[in-house]
Amino acid sequence: MRVFVLGSAAGGGVPQWNCACPVCALAWSGDARVARRTQSSLAVTLDGESFALVNASPDLRQQIVATPALHPHGLRHNPIKHVIVTNADVDHIAGLLTLRERQAFTLHATAGTLEMLRANAIFNVMAADCVERKAVALDMPFAPLDGLEVAAFPLPGKVALWLEGDHVEIGGESETTVGLEFRADGKRIVYAPGCAQVTEALLQRVEGADVLFFDGTTFTDDEMIAHGLSQKTAQRMGHTPMSGPDGALQRFADARVGRKIFIHINNSNPALVAGSPERRLVEDAGWELAFDGMEVAP
Ligand code: MLT
Ligand code: MN
Ligand code: ZN
Repeated sequence: MRVFVLGSAAGGGVPQWNCACPVCALAWSGDARVARRTQSSLAVTLDGESFALVNASPDLRQQIVATPALHPHGLRHNPIKHVIVTNADVDHIAGLLTLRERQAFTLHATAGTLEMLRANAIFNVMAADCVERKAVALDMPFAPLDGLEVAAFPLPGKVALWLEGDHVEIGGESETTVGLEFRADGKRIVYAPGCAQVTEALLQRVEGADVLFFDGTTFTDDEMIAHGLSQKTAQRMGHTPMSGPDGALQRFADARVGRKIFIHINNSNPALVAGSPERRLVEDAGWELAFDGMEVAP
């Protein structure tokens, strides 16, 4: 099983088009300590020929161009045969609009997420006679590629920002926000790019996994507020910070996992700066930071 990290950043990317926070400022200036990052997406393959795309980011076209394994070979061809979407966040669905031009693939998402897409007619650019939409049931494994088993499981989360009403429930576990478990060749990878809380159930699930890709949105819960970027904590955005008593570093400290990799990293996160005290804490705790172009093959 090979996983290509197409995009390692959270919504907005690094740098974000309208941001000059300390990390973005370094990225804009080309400082070598901060790698530029596109938005949240993976591609999974067993044979290098057929791929399952996991989340379709607004940067998808650029990500495909940057990844030779995803180039077409043949007139009107692309190795992406399946697309799996974990929630309806803009950074996970906007790239579906890139997958137009009458290319056949199968789109997998929970019934709730498929309903969001159905309710937005612009997604009809994925022509119904080309793109099959399949509802994914929680904890019911399916096999998009021969030999690759995928299971979706509920994560504490919330509705997508663009669907928020006056009252927003945070941390509910439903099919609104799911994680994915990939199994092939006796290996197991857990992917949870958006998760409001590290529950006991999640700890049990990741135990013994070869790789964990986990929500690395912020370093501290209040960093968006502290930088004057937003009024929201990580928790309010449906994310677990890296640090703090309920943070990922602490909660996964004793987890028996082959590799722990932060992904969906927001541009406000000081751990993005190589050599920063925050980066050192992350690395000393045995975590890696995903980067665009990273390949993981347990
Ligand atoms: C998130 O991960 O919190 C969302 O992508 C935020 C957004 O939609 O901008
Ligand atoms: Mn996001
Ligand atoms: Zn920024």
